[in-house]
Amino acid sequence: MISRVVIPVVLLVSALLAADVFVLPAVTPELKKKAGEYYDNECKGCHRWARKFAAPPMKDNVAQYAQNPEALVQYLMKPEPKHPDQWDPMEIAPMSESDAKTMAAWLLYILEHPDDPGRPK
Ligand code: HEC
Repeated sequence: MISRVVIPVVLLVSALLAADVFVLPAVTPELKKKAGEYYDNECKGCHRWARKFAAPPMKDNVAQYAQNPEALVQYLMKPEPKHPDQWDPMEIAPMSESDAKTMAAWLLYILEHPDDPGRPK
């Protein structure tokens, strides 16, 4: 009886692990705090949430990646020129995969929850 449930579940889990499925970390209060601090230190110097500053508005930046969070993580780890006619390429301190995933999870969360008190200015 049990094996009818357990075996398919085990197979599914192993398939998912083998496929190396991309997942972002869950947005917990700890993650919000960590990402918010990182943002204040490493992003805010150039970006404002809803308007142009020394860089395009973060809200628009993140919205481009709403359907493709993996590409956002890739960009943060290895920024490449995106709008060479309008902006210099982004130059930031290199981000680890873990920091990039934390940042992407938080930014996409804030995009969905713009009234969050931790939303950057
Ligand atoms: C030194 C200034 C500077 C800092 C600091 C900075 N950015 Fe940027 N960012 C830019 C510029 C300039 C662009 C536009 C680049 C382009 O179009 O190629 C940009 C673009 C982006 C984009 C949009 C890329 C696209 O596909 O259009 C994202 C997302 C982004 N930044 C996230 C971040 C995050 C997260 C941080 C902090 C870890 C950060 N930026 C820190 C200058 C900065």
